[in-house]
Amino acid sequence: MVDVLKTVIEIGLEKPVKVLHITDTHITESNENDDQRMKDLIEMRRRTFEKEGGHPPKKPQEYLTEAFDLAEAEGAFPVLTGDIMDLDSAGCRKVLHECLDGKDFLFTAGTHEFQRSSCTPRCCPLEEEGTYYEDTREALKKEFLWNWDSDSRVIGGVDLVTLDDSQGFFTLGAYEKLKNEIEKSLPMILFMHVPPVCDTLKWPPYVGENKYMRFSQEEFEISRKTVGLINTTPLVKATFAGHWHCDSRYPDDQPPTFVTPGTFAGKVRMIEIR
Ligand SMILES: [Fe+2]
Repeated sequence: MVDVLKTVIEIGLEKPVKVLHITDTHITESNENDDQRMKDLIEMRRRTFEKEGGHPPKKPQEYLTEAFDLAEAEGAFPVLTGDIMDLDSAGCRKVLHECLDGKDFLFTAGTHEFQRSSCTPRCCPLEEEGTYYEDTREALKKEFLWNWDSDSRVIGGVDLVTLDDSQGFFTLGAYEKLKNEIEKSLPMILFMHVPPVCDTLKWPPYVGENKYMRFSQEEFEISRKTVGLINTTPLVKATFAGHWHCDSRYPDDQPPTFVTPGTFAGKVRMIEIR
Protein backbone atom coordinates (compact mmCIF):
# COMPACT_ATOMS: atom_id res chain seq x y z
CA MET A 1 0.00 0.00 0.00
CA VAL A 2 1.10 3.56 -0.51
CA ASP A 3 -0.02 4.66 2.94
CA VAL A 4 -1.27 2.77 6.00
CA LEU A 5 -2.72 5.22 8.51
CA LYS A 6 -2.60 4.02 12.11
CA THR A 7 -5.12 4.68 14.85
CA VAL A 8 -5.10 3.32 18.40
CA ILE A 9 -8.31 3.12 20.43
CA GLU A 10 -7.72 2.52 24.14
CA ILE A 11 -10.60 0.73 25.85
CA GLY A 12 -8.78 -1.49 28.33
CA LEU A 13 -8.70 -4.82 26.46
CA GLU A 14 -6.45 -7.58 27.81
CA LYS A 15 -5.39 -8.51 24.26
CA PRO A 16 -5.39 -6.02 21.34
CA VAL A 17 -7.78 -6.43 18.41
CA LYS A 18 -6.73 -5.24 14.96
CA VAL A 19 -9.15 -4.04 12.26
CA LEU A 20 -8.26 -2.85 8.77
CA HIS A 21 -10.63 -0.12 7.60
CA ILE A 22 -10.98 -0.16 3.80
CA THR A 23 -13.25 2.37 2.11
CA ASP A 24 -13.93 4.13 -1.18
CA THR A 25 -11.94 1.85 -3.46
CA HIS A 26 -13.94 3.20 -6.43
CA ILE A 27 -13.25 0.34 -8.84
CA THR A 28 -13.80 1.70 -12.36
CA GLU A 29 -14.03 -1.13 -14.90
CA SER A 30 -16.29 -1.97 -17.83
CA ASN A 31 -16.47 -5.04 -20.06
CA GLU A 32 -18.26 -6.43 -23.11
CA ASN A 33 -21.53 -6.68 -21.18
CA ASP A 34 -21.69 -2.91 -20.60
CA ASP A 35 -23.24 -0.56 -23.15
CA GLN A 36 -21.30 2.29 -24.73
CA ARG A 37 -22.79 4.88 -22.35
CA MET A 38 -21.46 2.94 -19.36
CA LYS A 39 -18.10 2.36 -21.00
CA ASP A 40 -17.72 6.10 -21.62
CA LEU A 41 -18.83 6.94 -18.10
CA ILE A 42 -16.39 4.45 -16.59
CA GLU A 43 -13.55 5.93 -18.63
CA MET A 44 -14.45 9.41 -17.41
CA ARG A 45 -14.62 8.24 -13.80
CA ARG A 46 -11.34 6.33 -14.06
CA ARG A 47 -9.59 9.53 -15.14
CA THR A 48 -11.29 11.41 -12.30
CA PHE A 49 -9.95 9.05 -9.64
CA GLU A 50 -6.50 8.82 -11.21
CA LYS A 51 -6.30 12.59 -10.89
CA GLU A 52 -7.84 12.71 -7.39
CA GLY A 53 -5.51 9.93 -6.22
CA GLY A 54 -2.42 11.74 -7.51
CA HIS A 55 -1.93 9.27 -10.40
CA PRO A 56 -1.14 6.25 -8.23
CA PRO A 57 0.87 3.47 -9.92
CA LYS A 58 -1.75 0.75 -9.34
CA LYS A 59 -5.41 0.15 -10.11
CA PRO A 60 -7.98 0.43 -7.28
CA GLN A 61 -8.56 -3.33 -7.27
CA GLU A 62 -4.82 -3.97 -6.93
CA TYR A 63 -4.82 -1.82 -3.80
CA LEU A 64 -7.91 -3.67 -2.56
CA THR A 65 -6.13 -7.00 -2.97
CA GLU A 66 -3.05 -5.59 -1.24
CA ALA A 67 -5.26 -4.40 1.60
CA PHE A 68 -6.62 -7.92 2.15
CA ASP A 69 -3.08 -9.31 2.02
CA LEU A 70 -2.02 -6.73 4.61
CA ALA A 71 -4.97 -7.62 6.85
CA GLU A 72 -4.06 -11.30 6.68
CA ALA A 73 -0.38 -10.65 7.39
CA GLU A 74 -1.20 -8.40 10.36
CA GLY A 75 -4.03 -10.53 11.78
CA ALA A 76 -6.46 -7.65 11.22
CA PHE A 77 -10.14 -8.08 10.42
CA PRO A 78 -11.21 -6.17 7.26
CA VAL A 79 -14.19 -3.82 7.41
CA LEU A 80 -15.36 -2.20 4.16
CA THR A 81 -17.49 0.94 4.26
CA GLY A 82 -18.72 1.39 0.72
CA ASP A 83 -18.00 3.01 -2.61
CA ILE A 84 -15.98 -0.12 -3.27
CA MET A 85 -17.16 0.07 -6.88
CA ASP A 86 -17.77 3.43 -8.48
CA LEU A 87 -20.69 2.44 -10.70
CA ASP A 88 -22.98 -0.54 -11.03
CA SER A 89 -21.33 -1.81 -14.23
CA ALA A 90 -20.80 -5.41 -15.35
CA GLY A 91 -17.05 -4.72 -15.35
CA CYS A 92 -17.07 -3.45 -11.74
CA ARG A 93 -19.18 -6.39 -10.56
CA LYS A 94 -16.77 -8.88 -12.20
CA VAL A 95 -13.79 -7.31 -10.44
CA LEU A 96 -15.72 -7.25 -7.16
CA HIS A 97 -16.18 -11.01 -7.46
CA GLU A 98 -12.50 -11.50 -8.24
CA CYS A 99 -11.39 -9.44 -5.24
CA LEU A 100 -13.91 -10.44 -2.58
CA ASP A 101 -15.40 -13.87 -3.26
CA GLY A 102 -14.46 -16.27 -0.47
CA LYS A 103 -13.09 -13.50 1.77
CA ASP A 104 -14.25 -12.86 5.34
CA PHE A 105 -15.13 -9.24 6.12
CA LEU A 106 -17.86 -6.86 7.24
CA PHE A 107 -19.43 -4.58 4.65
CA THR A 108 -21.79 -1.68 4.45
CA ALA A 109 -22.62 0.02 1.19
CA GLY A 110 -21.70 3.50 -0.01
CA THR A 111 -23.44 5.98 -2.22
CA HIS A 112 -21.90 4.59 -5.40
CA GLU A 113 -22.66 0.85 -5.40
CA PHE A 114 -26.17 1.51 -6.69
CA GLN A 115 -25.25 4.05 -9.35
CA ARG A 116 -25.32 3.67 -13.10
CA SER A 117 -24.86 7.38 -13.73
CA SER A 118 -22.73 10.03 -12.07
CA CYS A 119 -25.36 10.84 -9.50
CA THR A 120 -26.79 9.14 -6.41
CA PRO A 121 -30.18 7.53 -7.22
CA ARG A 122 -32.09 8.84 -4.24
CA CYS A 123 -30.65 12.32 -4.59
CA CYS A 124 -31.44 12.69 -8.27
CA PRO A 125 -34.71 11.01 -9.23
CA LEU A 126 -34.61 13.05 -12.40
CA GLU A 127 -31.68 10.92 -13.55
CA GLU A 128 -32.99 7.56 -12.37
CA GLU A 129 -36.64 6.78 -12.83
CA GLY A 130 -39.01 4.49 -10.98
CA THR A 131 -37.68 1.75 -8.72
CA TYR A 132 -34.16 1.75 -10.13
CA TYR A 133 -32.52 2.17 -6.72
CA GLU A 134 -34.57 -0.55 -4.99
CA ASP A 135 -34.21 -2.96 -7.94
CA THR A 136 -30.44 -2.47 -8.11
CA ARG A 137 -30.03 -2.93 -4.39
CA GLU A 138 -31.98 -6.19 -4.42
CA ALA A 139 -30.07 -7.46 -7.49
CA LEU A 140 -26.70 -6.75 -5.86
CA LYS A 141 -27.76 -8.46 -2.63
CA LYS A 142 -28.69 -11.56 -4.64
CA GLU A 143 -25.43 -11.54 -6.62
CA PHE A 144 -23.12 -10.82 -3.66
CA LEU A 145 -24.21 -12.76 -0.62
CA TRP A 146 -22.56 -10.71 2.11
CA ASN A 147 -24.66 -8.35 4.22
CA TRP A 148 -25.14 -5.02 2.39
CA ASP A 149 -27.01 -3.23 5.16
CA SER A 150 -25.99 -3.30 8.82
CA ASP A 151 -23.99 -6.13 10.33
CA SER A 152 -21.84 -7.01 13.34
CA ARG A 153 -19.06 -9.30 14.52
CA VAL A 154 -17.70 -9.78 18.03
CA ILE A 155 -13.90 -10.18 18.00
CA GLY A 156 -11.82 -10.33 21.17
CA GLY A 157 -14.62 -8.89 23.28
CA VAL A 158 -15.24 -5.92 20.94
CA ASP A 159 -18.44 -5.59 18.94
CA LEU A 160 -17.65 -4.34 15.42
CA VAL A 161 -20.87 -2.91 13.95
CA THR A 162 -21.59 -1.63 10.43
CA LEU A 163 -24.54 0.77 10.00
CA ASP A 164 -26.12 1.62 6.65
CA ASP A 165 -26.21 5.34 5.86
CA SER A 166 -25.33 4.84 2.21
CA GLN A 167 -28.00 7.17 0.86
CA GLY A 168 -27.24 10.05 3.21
CA PHE A 169 -29.36 9.00 6.18
CA PHE A 170 -29.31 6.15 8.70
CA THR A 171 -31.97 3.61 7.77
CA LEU A 172 -34.55 2.18 10.15
CA GLY A 173 -32.60 -1.10 9.89
CA ALA A 174 -29.43 0.68 11.04
CA TYR A 175 -31.25 2.27 13.99
CA GLU A 176 -32.72 -1.06 15.08
CA LYS A 177 -29.39 -2.82 14.58
CA LEU A 178 -27.67 -0.29 16.85
CA LYS A 179 -30.35 -0.68 19.53
CA ASN A 180 -29.98 -4.48 19.39
CA GLU A 181 -26.19 -4.32 19.61
CA ILE A 182 -26.39 -2.07 22.67
CA GLU A 183 -28.24 -4.93 24.38
CA LYS A 184 -25.05 -7.03 24.17
CA SER A 185 -23.37 -4.61 26.62
CA LEU A 186 -20.02 -4.92 24.83
CA PRO A 187 -17.72 -2.06 23.82
CA MET A 188 -18.59 -1.13 20.23
CA ILE A 189 -16.67 0.29 17.30
CA LEU A 190 -19.02 1.59 14.59
CA PHE A 191 -18.40 1.70 10.85
CA MET A 192 -20.50 3.53 8.25
CA HIS A 193 -20.06 5.24 4.89
CA VAL A 194 -21.05 8.85 5.64
CA PRO A 195 -19.36 10.27 8.78
CA PRO A 196 -21.83 10.72 11.68
CA VAL A 197 -20.58 14.29 12.10
CA CYS A 198 -22.21 15.10 8.74
CA ASP A 199 -25.07 17.54 9.33
CA THR A 200 -27.40 15.99 6.76
CA LEU A 201 -27.52 12.78 8.82
CA LYS A 202 -28.98 14.76 11.72
CA TRP A 203 -31.33 17.22 10.14
CA PRO A 204 -31.28 18.43 6.55
CA PRO A 205 -32.47 21.97 5.86
CA TYR A 206 -34.27 20.97 2.68
CA VAL A 207 -36.54 18.03 3.55
CA GLY A 208 -39.72 17.99 1.54
CA GLU A 209 -38.96 21.17 -0.37
CA ASN A 210 -36.13 20.31 -2.72
CA LYS A 211 -37.50 18.54 -5.79
CA TYR A 212 -34.22 16.70 -6.21
CA MET A 213 -34.52 14.91 -2.86
CA ARG A 214 -36.55 11.77 -2.22
CA PHE A 215 -36.00 11.64 1.52
CA SER A 216 -39.01 11.80 3.79
CA GLN A 217 -39.31 13.59 7.12
CA GLU A 218 -39.69 10.15 8.77
CA GLU A 219 -36.42 8.89 7.29
CA PHE A 220 -34.50 11.87 8.60
CA GLU A 221 -36.16 11.58 12.01
CA ILE A 222 -34.83 8.00 12.22
CA SER A 223 -31.40 9.22 11.11
CA ARG A 224 -31.38 12.00 13.71
CA LYS A 225 -32.33 9.48 16.42
CA THR A 226 -29.51 7.15 15.30
CA VAL A 227 -26.94 9.96 15.50
CA GLY A 228 -28.31 10.82 18.95
CA LEU A 229 -27.94 7.21 20.07
CA ILE A 230 -24.35 7.07 18.78
CA ASN A 231 -23.47 10.27 20.64
CA THR A 232 -25.03 9.28 23.96
CA THR A 233 -24.16 5.58 24.26
CA PRO A 234 -21.00 5.11 26.38
CA LEU A 235 -20.50 1.62 24.88
CA VAL A 236 -19.72 3.27 21.50
CA LYS A 237 -15.98 3.86 21.69
CA ALA A 238 -15.28 5.24 18.20
CA THR A 239 -16.80 5.61 14.74
CA PHE A 240 -15.05 5.16 11.38
CA ALA A 241 -16.37 6.34 8.02
CA GLY A 242 -15.31 7.14 4.46
CA HIS A 243 -17.12 9.16 1.80
CA TRP A 244 -14.95 12.30 2.08
CA HIS A 245 -11.78 10.73 0.59
CA CYS A 246 -9.53 12.38 3.16
CA ASP A 247 -7.93 11.74 6.53
CA SER A 248 -10.12 13.62 9.03
CA ARG A 249 -10.15 13.08 12.76
CA TYR A 250 -12.47 14.38 15.44
CA PRO A 251 -10.70 12.98 18.52
CA ASP A 252 -12.45 15.33 20.94
CA ASP A 253 -15.95 14.29 19.90
CA GLN A 254 -17.87 11.79 21.97
CA PRO A 255 -17.35 9.20 20.56
CA PRO A 256 -14.29 10.14 18.46
CA THR A 257 -14.81 9.95 14.68
CA PHE A 258 -12.19 9.06 12.08
CA VAL A 259 -12.63 9.47 8.33
CA THR A 260 -10.41 7.19 6.24
CA PRO A 261 -9.17 8.17 2.75
CA GLY A 262 -9.97 6.12 -0.36
CA THR A 263 -8.25 2.86 -1.28
CA PHE A 264 -8.16 4.16 -4.88
CA ALA A 265 -5.28 6.36 -3.67
CA GLY A 266 -3.57 3.38 -1.99
CA LYS A 267 -4.66 4.35 1.53
CA VAL A 268 -6.20 2.32 4.33
CA ARG A 269 -6.43 2.66 8.12
CA MET A 270 -5.07 0.05 10.54
CA ILE A 271 -7.00 0.30 13.80
CA GLU A 272 -5.57 -1.21 16.95
CA ILE A 273 -8.06 -1.53 19.78
CA ARG A 274 -6.30 -2.02 23.11
FE1 LIG B 1 -16.35 7.73 -2.37
